[in-house]
Amino acid sequence: MIDSLTDKNRFTILVADDSEASLGRISGFLGEEGYTVKQARDGEEALRMLKAASPDLIILDDIMPNLNGYKACIKIKEDPATRLLPVILITSMREQADRMKAVSAGADDYLTRPIDKTELSVRVHNLLSLKRMRSEVVLSQRLISLGMLAGGVAHEINNPLTGVVTNLEMLRSRKGKFSEDEILQICRKNKIKGKALKEIRDYFKALTGKEEKKRRMIELAIKGGRRCSRIVGELLSYSSAQRKWIPSKVRLKEIVERSLSLVKGQFRGLNVKIDFKLSHEQVEAMGNKWELQQVFMSLLANAFKALEKSEEKNLSISISTERNFAVVRIKDSGEGIPKENLESIFDFFYTTRDEGEGFGLGLTAVYEIILKHDGAVDVKSEPGRGTEFSVKIPLA
Ligand SMILES: Nc1ncnc2c1ncn2[C@@H]1O[C@H](COP(=O)(O)OP(=O)(O)OP(=O)(O)O)[C@@H](O)[C@H]1O
Ligand SMILES: [Mg+2]
Repeated sequence: MIDSLTDKNRFTILVADDSEASLGRISGFLGEEGYTVKQARDGEEALRMLKAASPDLIILDDIMPNLNGYKACIKIKEDPATRLLPVILITSMREQADRMKAVSAGADDYLTRPIDKTELSVRVHNLLSLKRMRSEVVLSQRLISLGMLAGGVAHEINNPLTGVVTNLEMLRSRKGKFSEDEILQICRKNKIKGKALKEIRDYFKALTGKEEKKRRMIELAIKGGRRCSRIVGELLSYSSAQRKWIPSKVRLKEIVERSLSLVKGQFRGLNVKIDFKLSHEQVEAMGNKWELQQVFMSLLANAFKALEKSEEKNLSISISTERNFAVVRIKDSGEGIPKENLESIFDFFYTTRDEGEGFGLGLTAVYEIILKHDGAVDVKSEPGRGTEFSVKIPLA
C-alpha cells in the first residue's frame, strides 16, 4: 500500500486526561510528530467529542472524573460505530493486574507512566497502520459481498428490462389505424363538407393533443428504462471483468492520454490548465488496459467535475515509478472532499451529486480494479483546495 501514514497531519488523535500537565505533554509529543490533536478532560467529554472530532485513534487516561478511561474504553468498543477505533489506555502502575484490566476493557494497547516519547510514537504508528488495515478488510469484504449481490440482481433484471424498453420503443413507433390525412382524403372523395367536415377536423385536433401526451409518457418511460439498463450494464461488467482476468504489459502513458482525451471531450468549454508530467517516457505496468482506462476515466471525470465549480482550474497528472510500482497521480484544484466523507467515497452507490448526475459507482470500480491488479489507491483531499488520487500498480 502507499504509505500515507507518513502524512501525519491527516490523522486526528483524541487525548483524554484530567491532568493538565500530562494532557499538555502527550499533546505536545503528538503535535511535534505532526498529528492533529484534540483534547478532552474526562471520559464523558471524550465520548461526546467522538462524532464531531472523528479521531483516528484515542488515548485515554485510566483515572479521570465522571467516566474513567476503562469505562470509556468499554463504551467505545461496545458501540458498533466506534468499535474499530484503536484505543491506548494510559495506566499509572506497572502492575500486571492493571495491564490486564486495560486489555479486558478492550484497549488495543496500553502505556505506563511516565510516558516515553519514542514508545508513544511507535505505538501510535502501529495502531494507525492496524486501523488502516482493518478498514481495508472491512471495505473489501463489503465490496465483495455487495458486488456479488449486485451482480446477481443485475443478471436477473437484465432480460425483463430489455423486454420493457424494446416493447416501449415498438409502442412509440406504432401509428393509429387511420391517419388524419387518410380520413380527410376519404371525406374529399365522398364530398363531405361544412359542419360534418369541421366536426371531423375538431375530433383530430383533440386526438392529437391526447396522442402527444401519450407519446411524452412513453418517451419518459423509455428514458427511465434506458437509465436502469446502463446501471445494470455497469454492474454486470464488474462481475464479468472479475471472471476474465488476463493481465498483460501495458503502457501507462498511452492509457492515461486516451482516457484524458475521452474525458476532455465530455467537458468541452471548461478551461482547465493541464500539466502532464512523466518521470520516464515509457512506464510499463502489468494489467488490463480496458480496466485501467476505466480507472483513469473515472478519476479524471471526477476531477473535471470538481473543477467545474472552482475558480482555479488546474489539473496535474504524473506518471512515475516507486520501487516495483508505477504510480499515477491525478490532482485537481477543485472543491475537495470533507474528511467525514472520505471513508465513504469508495462505497457502492455513494454519491454527493444531484439526482441523475452520478451513480456513485466510479470509485467503487476504481477500488475493485486496482485491488485486482495487486495495487493500491490512495486519496488526499483538502476541502476548498483540491484532491489528489494516486494509483499504484506493479511494474511489468
Ligand atoms: N476529485 C474529486 N473532488 C471532489 N469530490 C470527489 C472527487 N472524486 C470523488 N469525489 C466524491 O466522491 C463521490 C463518489 O465518487 P464516484 O466516482 O464513486 O461517484 P460519482 O462520481 O458520484 O458517480 P459516477 O462516477 O458513478 O458517475 C462523488 O460523488 C464526490 O462527492
Ligand atoms: Mg465518478
